[in-house]
Amino acid sequence: MDSRIIDRLGRPIKDLRISVIDKCNFRCSYCMPAEIFGPDYLFMPEKERLSFDEIIRLVHIFAQFGVEKIRLTGGEPLLRKDLDVLIRRIREIDGIKDIALTTNAVMLVKQAEKLKASGLDRVNISLDAIEDEVFKKTNGRGVHTDPVLRGIEAARKAGLGIKINMVVKKGMNEDQILPMARYFKKTADNLRFIEFMEVGNHNGWNMDAVVSKKAIVDAIHEEMPLIPAEANYYGEVASRYQYEDGAGEIGIISSVTEAFCSSCTRARLSADGQLYTCLFADSGYDLRGRLREDWSDEDLTDYLMAVWEGRADQYSADRARGKPMKERKIEMSYIGG
Ligand code: GTP
Ligand code: 5AD
Ligand code: SF4
Ligand code: SF4
Repeated sequence: MDSRIIDRLGRPIKDLRISVIDKCNFRCSYCMPAEIFGPDYLFMPEKERLSFDEIIRLVHIFAQFGVEKIRLTGGEPLLRKDLDVLIRRIREIDGIKDIALTTNAVMLVKQAEKLKASGLDRVNISLDAIEDEVFKKTNGRGVHTDPVLRGIEAARKAGLGIKINMVVKKGMNEDQILPMARYFKKTADNLRFIEFMEVGNHNGWNMDAVVSKKAIVDAIHEEMPLIPAEANYYGEVASRYQYEDGAGEIGIISSVTEAFCSSCTRARLSADGQLYTCLFADSGYDLRGRLREDWSDEDLTDYLMAVWEGRADQYSADRARGKPMKERKIEMSYIGG
């Protein structure tokens, strides 16, 4: 069965981002500040997480609606045991063309080969600085760049596609924009700069801490000239720029200064089975409850169709037009970005 659906703003559903665990081995200040996510923080109990069987059942249903891309996120998704087994099962589902993972890469050295063999296509690796002293601070756990760089090399060796994600925050790492661009120009990896977003309730976001897309592009262009490039596909989150000398490309994810809601084709599933139709939604749709109440595939299909067809979220675009920020938002580590 193929029943493609669009939401109230005419957007199809193409991607499902699945958070498989809410824990992480890092404490990036803009995501899981150590003061809040300390030793007493209550993470989700294991039994509350969707099982692989439950996730697979949902992916089958989403694939019927035209979902082609699955992204596994966390927290840190590689902390979920046997992730390769889940990937292998997703790979078998008709219609799924792309399986990706967003990770801090520390555990990739051990797992890259196995993940690739299970059917993982690519990884987006978070790295906020190339200078060790800066990175030790940004990750909140004193981790050196070396394990991440080794994770990147392991991914390369395994044949996985690679993108590097750098969240840029004023006062944290804006001095790393050029060093990061130089480094990843040499390795020819696609480095994406991400504007610091107002996700969650604890990251102390304010507009003054945002380094805009324009400022980032201007800074790089002055030293390493850039040419804007077309999106690879409808709804791509990053705007692309190629180096004039042909040495590869960078991307900018500008959800604050240039919202991209009008082509947002993403749904998000939390590790405990709540479906969110926007990164900034304040509540989700309880799929775990329905799965565990033995809803039939037909009933789940009808329900999900109604949810997507009722979707009108465009938080970032609304905020750019002056709508006030929400008081409470879901945590990034809970929904996976
Ligand atoms: P690709 O498929 O490789 O383009 O991945 P992606 O950029 O969609 O995913 P990734 O997990 O690497 O996310 C990079 C950054 O984009 C993170 O900061 C995400 O939170 C942000 N992002 C991804 N999708 C959305 C979205 O729909 N809205 C907003 N505001 N930010 C998003
Ligand atoms: N603003 C922008 N990006 C963020 N990420 C986490 N928190 C934020 C934030 N406040 C990024 C991570 C990772 C992706 C899943 O989301 O660095 O690359
Ligand atoms: Fe962990 Fe990624 Fe959040 Fe950093 S941004 S704390 S690596 S989930
Ligand atoms: Fe999509 Fe919401 Fe992000 Fe806009 S703010 S792009 S609607 S997830």
